[in-house]
Amino acid sequence: MQRDSIANTFLVAVTLCVVCAVMVSGAAVGLRTVQEANKQLDRQKNVLMAAGLIDAKADAAKIREVFAARISPIVVDLKTGEVLEGVDPATVDGLREAKSKDPELCTELSEDPAKLKARENRSVVYRVLAEGSTDKVELYVFPIRGYGLWSTLFGFIALEGDLNTVQGITYYQHGETPGLGGEVDNPLWKAKWQGKSLYDAEGEVALRVVKGGAAPDAPSQVDALSGASITSVGVENMIRFWFGDLGFRSFVEKNRSAAVATAAAGGEEMR
Ligand SMILES: Cc1cc2nc3c(=O)[nH]c(=O)nc-3n(C[C@H](O)[C@H](O)[C@H](O)COP(=O)(O)O)c2cc1C
Repeated sequence: MQRDSIANTFLVAVTLCVVCAVMVSGAAVGLRTVQEANKQLDRQKNVLMAAGLIDAKADAAKIREVFAARISPIVVDLKTGEVLEGVDPATVDGLREAKSKDPELCTELSEDPAKLKARENRSVVYRVLAEGSTDKVELYVFPIRGYGLWSTLFGFIALEGDLNTVQGITYYQHGETPGLGGEVDNPLWKAKWQGKSLYDAEGEVALRVVKGGAAPDAPSQVDALSGASITSVGVENMIRFWFGDLGFRSFVEKNRSAAVATAAAGGEEMR
């Protein structure tokens, strides 16, 4: 066959395509375990950042060490608010279950402010234990997600032991515009969440992301992102959804009364 014949040109092109396809798919399959491990490490990092236990510069060893020492994950039934004892949190993939279309695993949403279409029936919640303790819960970190302008934002919000006061918020995945909706990653904006109250005295979700700026000293208001009202509304809606009736509200109500009882018992002991 002549070097510059049409058949030879096709043969070279097809061979090149096959070789490249094998290399790319081989790399994708071969690196899957590394990708999964990195994904898990990134989630751990964001749980710890929401809880204020590490900063963004922490290395992998530090993340693993603090996560193992301080985080105790549990699986919560979102319908009842009960902890599902005996279910290994490592086996629960909320997003996959939400997309499964299996009514055992997920619930289709008619009221859907976070634009999820369906939500999983159980979710992993991360309890942050007091230093050196195996059972004293200092904070709870909840996974949240919801639609902004261009994308679904995935993050975590940490609440203090009263299950009402915000300790921190982080997003670990989104496709919002850098400099606009992407400012959800800005540490200055995230700092505005600390100390805010999620619920009002009646137990309704009160937290609002306010365009034009939060009122001074308003306990449940956070400034909206400037030039990114749609992402800001998405953030507010996902908070309202995940801490409302179809989200963690029943878990919060059950455990808030337990936390109040423990605090009261502590007070009795001190007297
Ligand atoms: C290229 C481009 C990217 C944008 N990205 C976002 C975004 O990520 N989030 C958002 O809320 N608005 C984004 N906007 C702006 C929205 O279209 C809309 O104008 C804005 O949310 C209104 O916010 P404002 O009332 O604070 O100005 C973008 C606009 C343009 C032109």
